[in-house]
Amino acid sequence: MSAVVTVSDLVVSYRMEAGDVFAVDGVDLTIAPGERVGIVGESGSGKSTLGMAIGRLLAPNARFVRGDIRIGGQAILSCTATELRQVRRDRLGFVYQNPMSALDPTMRVGGQVALAIGGRPGMADIEALLGRVGLPDPARAAGSFPHELSGGMAQRVVIALAIARNPAVLIADEPTASLDASIQGVILDLLASLRDSTGASLVILSHDLRMVANRCDRLLVMYGGRVIESGPSRRVFRDPRHPYTRALIKAAAGNEGPDGVLEPIPGVPPVLRSESRNCAFAERCEFAQARCRQERPAAQDVDGCVVTCHFAAEGLVRTRPSSVTLA
Ligand SMILES: Nc1ncnc2c1ncn2[C@@H]1O[C@H](COP(=O)(O)OP(=O)(O)OP(=O)(O)O)[C@@H](O)[C@H]1O
Ligand SMILES: [Mg+2]
Repeated sequence: MSAVVTVSDLVVSYRMEAGDVFAVDGVDLTIAPGERVGIVGESGSGKSTLGMAIGRLLAPNARFVRGDIRIGGQAILSCTATELRQVRRDRLGFVYQNPMSALDPTMRVGGQVALAIGGRPGMADIEALLGRVGLPDPARAAGSFPHELSGGMAQRVVIALAIARNPAVLIADEPTASLDASIQGVILDLLASLRDSTGASLVILSHDLRMVANRCDRLLVMYGGRVIESGPSRRVFRDPRHPYTRALIKAAAGNEGPDGVLEPIPGVPPVLRSESRNCAFAERCEFAQARCRQERPAAQDVDGCVVTCHFAAEGLVRTRPSSVTLA
């Protein structure tokens, strides 16, 4: 089946007074119909820039330096404003971190859902949509103003708005970051379950590898604006091949050592001033060699996964077993 989204060699920078910052540094991404893809990485790795670039929803100082983005075959970077509005409305759905800022505080939920569906939907259509996202009393939700809802309920409404026109792709950027811990898993489960009822592909952007690994078919790990590893979620999570993926898993809650302490990744992520000419992770990598600081690694196919490391094929990462269990 043909891809829903194709991103090829995408490079995106932001204009800053102190010089450009390169946020996406040559990303290739293909999303199949109905596929659930998790994009993970530390803060600043370029997740949101990649996700928003798909809808050309970047900040005004962003610049597409190079590359191609296609949604259902349509070239997004050369769309007219009218075509772009249509693509966003009919093919894409976005869910953001803070549901309250995505909703209009002055309009009842039912009115906002009606606008999202378009045309003149009846109350039954509005309530059916609110029921699909698990709101227990759709009629009551429809009559409420956003501030009358809990954070979890409000995020369900945002998800309802996002799926109202049966998008081909749903892009959720840290969709649970502003919610109570108790509701985070529930909202992620809801997003993951929508694939079955809508057929839409799902892209979840998150710093929480574990949360996403459980709900996605495929994981992409980003570092310094590049995808440094991608493959089936379970494989990436249980048998990481890139030193950064391994370090990220070791640093995640649930992988505390025997003393109850997590092993943080030493150092800080880079801020790129140009397209990288070496491995952006080299400074922090326990396996780094001279070549890593001199030569940009290419993406390599390793056992059905893609790993952007000079030493991917040698299985270097696996030669030094982790001191903690990768659950
Ligand atoms: N509007 C902007 N202007 C300038 N630089 C920006 C802008 N937006 C993002 N950046 C920079 O681009 C890089 C990638 O940022 P991005 O927000 O895409 O990362 P992220 O992985 O989504 O991070 P987070 O987990 O914090 O959301 C960072 O260095 C960030 O500071
Ligand atoms: Mg982000």
